[in-house]
Amino acid sequence: MDLEEDIRSLQLDSAAEDINGVVNPEDEKPDVDNFDKIEDEDPKQEVQAQSVEAEPKAKDKEIPPVQDEEDEHMKKRHLNVVFIGHVDAGKSTTGGQILFLSGQVDDRTIQKYEKEAKDKSRESWYMAYIMDTNEEERVKGKTVEVGRAHFETDTTRFTILDAPGHKSYVPNMISGASQADIGVLVISARKGEFETGYERGGQTREHVQLAKTLGVTKLLVVVNKMDDPTVNWSKERYDEIESKMVPFLKQSGYNVKKDVSFLPISGLMGLNIKTRLDKSHCSWWDGPCLFESLDSIEVPMGDPQSPFRMPIIDKFKDMGTVVMGKVESGTIKDGDSLLIMPNKDHVKVVAIYIDEKRVNIAGPGENLRVRLSGIEEEDLLSGFVLSSAANPISTVTEFVAQLQILELLDNAIFTAGYKAVLHVHSVVEECEIVELLEQIDPKTRKPIKKKVLFVKNGAIVLCRVQVNNVICVEKFSDFPQLGRFTLRTEGKTVAVGKITAI
Ligand code: GTP
Ligand code: MG
Repeated sequence: MDLEEDIRSLQLDSAAEDINGVVNPEDEKPDVDNFDKIEDEDPKQEVQAQSVEAEPKAKDKEIPPVQDEEDEHMKKRHLNVVFIGHVDAGKSTTGGQILFLSGQVDDRTIQKYEKEAKDKSRESWYMAYIMDTNEEERVKGKTVEVGRAHFETDTTRFTILDAPGHKSYVPNMISGASQADIGVLVISARKGEFETGYERGGQTREHVQLAKTLGVTKLLVVVNKMDDPTVNWSKERYDEIESKMVPFLKQSGYNVKKDVSFLPISGLMGLNIKTRLDKSHCSWWDGPCLFESLDSIEVPMGDPQSPFRMPIIDKFKDMGTVVMGKVESGTIKDGDSLLIMPNKDHVKVVAIYIDEKRVNIAGPGENLRVRLSGIEEEDLLSGFVLSSAANPISTVTEFVAQLQILELLDNAIFTAGYKAVLHVHSVVEECEIVELLEQIDPKTRKPIKKKVLFVKNGAIVLCRVQVNNVICVEKFSDFPQLGRFTLRTEGKTVAVGKITAI
């Protein structure tokens, strides 16, 4: 009840969304299964743009770059992990707990948050306050912006992207997931909560499908709130959730054996996170803890030798122009001459920062702040791409894409003239379908011969898509993360697609 009230009090969005929220049963959604396989094979699994935050501290400015060409950070791999799942599943709490257990947050700060949470009558949210840093988020107990934080294990440097679960903030979730290499799907085991998250209006389903589409190839499903009195570390409940999730994950295109693992945790209590579960809490689990599972996930990273691409997600002025983004391909070095696309502005790299640290060189998957000379902050927009000058990213106002229609609003038909909002890496742009070229049989994956004028939910169709402004994209087969996209309208994801020709 409290939850519903909270959501209402957020006063978000259109009536259309509410209608969607109440929709009924299950499984009408088409299989996103095999969509990726329909043609290209995902040659190199790369990654993507990013969200916002942290300005460089004044002191950073004076720190000279590390002299060593093989910067320290190059020795450990870096992974972006997006936390996804239904509202209140415990994403921020688990993220906060990870930071606490990895020594990034001290007891005093936790005590301060405990007091603040109590004052806001949100006692149990104190761990989430580590990730939910703005006032609105703390008052409502809901993440809005994608929270960002870093922690390290023995083998890996992780960036946590804590996505919001509320359906009104799906665009933010998309931005988080599109920057991620792997996903942690947080599911609440608490009585009733798993069910609400899993049903049609729930975000568990939409997040999984979006994550898959956006290139999150590996998922760790954490069954959270195992400590809750309604669960009490019940193996039965855990098994029930796993058995319901597996078919759905398969249907969404995940190879469950290879790409998905499950584990029980308590984010709030910090159990099975940094160290394995003690038998006194749970006698039946003898699998790994969350840190171990994260450590052991293998993901192919982008190619450091390929042309440089970094979509810009944010920018600000600080002794020059600073852009933020994630390296999708190639390598950037201090002093490089690059282009900002689509405007072809020539820029020079003055400094590169990973977190707060200045570095000489950075490769695929890194989240960076890059100080540039040769461009004013006003001349940049998010969605622009910092590119290799010799081999810059393509610019288009029209492209051909293979689209899978998920669920159109109110049984709308999908035809030439259909308008939606295109989300591709850090670009958000109005688009129009100008022509349906051919329909593809989802089963045989072969084109269906007859001329197609419209398609319905579940269809796979090749079409021409037009945007009003020039955007930077690539063919999916060349740079998967720069060529996959979602189409949304009135706050709902209606289709997912990949660019096949530009
Ligand atoms: P959104 O950001 O709104 O999508 O939610 P979230 O998934 O980040 O959930 P959050 O971490 O804000 O937690 C929501 C509520 O669940 C809070 O009251 C938490 O204390 C509670 N919670 C989270 N993890 C656990 C857990 O392991 N056990 C119990 N008992 N409660 C938990
Ligand atoms: Mg949250």
